[in-house]
Amino acid sequence: MSRTAISRRQFASDNYAGICPEAFAAMTEANQAHEESYGNDRWTEQAANLIREVFETDCEVFFLFNGTASNSLSLASLCQSYHSVLCHELAHIEVAECGAPEFFANGSKVLLLEGGHGKVEPKTIERAVNKRTDIHYPKPRVLSLTQPTELGTLYSLDELGALADAARGFKLRVHMDGARFANAVAALNVAPKELTWKRGVDVLCFGGTKNGLGVGEAVVFFDKELAREFDYRCKQGGQLASKMRFLAAPWVGMLRDGAWLRHAGHANRMAQRLEAALAKVPAIRIVHPVNTNSVFAKMSDQVVKGMHERGWKFYNHVGSEGEARLMCSWDTTEEDVDAFAEDARILCDAGEARAPG
Ligand SMILES: Cc1ncc(COP(=O)(O)O)c(C=O)c1O
Repeated sequence: MSRTAISRRQFASDNYAGICPEAFAAMTEANQAHEESYGNDRWTEQAANLIREVFETDCEVFFLFNGTASNSLSLASLCQSYHSVLCHELAHIEVAECGAPEFFANGSKVLLLEGGHGKVEPKTIERAVNKRTDIHYPKPRVLSLTQPTELGTLYSLDELGALADAARGFKLRVHMDGARFANAVAALNVAPKELTWKRGVDVLCFGGTKNGLGVGEAVVFFDKELAREFDYRCKQGGQLASKMRFLAAPWVGMLRDGAWLRHAGHANRMAQRLEAALAKVPAIRIVHPVNTNSVFAKMSDQVVKGMHERGWKFYNHVGSEGEARLMCSWDTTEEDVDAFAEDARILCDAGEARAPG
């Protein structure tokens, strides 16, 4: 099957966007000479130090290729095979990683928690932990939170604090899937430490790809003891980049002058603009609070079909049945947003005109 290039910017995923200029420029800089391999290069050192500066603490940092591996290998380093990981039922580690967390943790079970708008609540942790405490049940060991959630919503500082307290009360470690962590920091406008180690997060998977890198996530261990032999885990899991500088340099480009927050803030603002435009269309309902760079909109099947026919790409399988997920990226423009909203409005108006009175 032949595939054609996509001729316009889309709302299907922030993975559709290209590499942002700051990341690209740093890659080019890193391409000037020979450097040591497997992470023993200047770029990797500089990127790790910049991450330590961002979090204002002496953490252990590893650069991996993608989010699935970052989540899976970091969870594996927190668990024995007989442990379990508690997470929201829509968590990426449950619904979109093909069982990799269980695989890399040698069978640790993922236990699911319910909660509105993609968010876990302390009482569900308590229920899950107390459901069974006998030797026949996998022992809860980790609470995994996604910030922002898979539905683009955010845990406030207070909510994070309450969740971490609950986790600590049950001797659970706290893992954070931060595939869009930059969007969370930009939206909440707080120091990154306030969302992580100060709230009891032991390990963060800090997303780079959706923020504007070509490839790459950083695994950040705030509890350094948990990072013991993580380099071996990465190597065994096929995640030790030989030319590591090309994973690390884009982080330098993003972090050294604050591009990561500029891009995330821009994507968040584009989502707000899209929400405002779609909210004016009576036949469209926004179904989750728009806290970061995604908008979840309920529209009729006919409108969805019409939008697809007009060349718009977006997913319908992330939230509940029939919710369109619309993602904004670092390069989404106001014109893109307005064009999408206008097409949706035209199709909704046409549907109403056709609807029986
Ligand atoms: C919440 C979340 N976590 C992790 C990931 C990373 O996944 P990947 O393995 O595709 O990089 C994604 C990507 O869609 C995500 O949305």
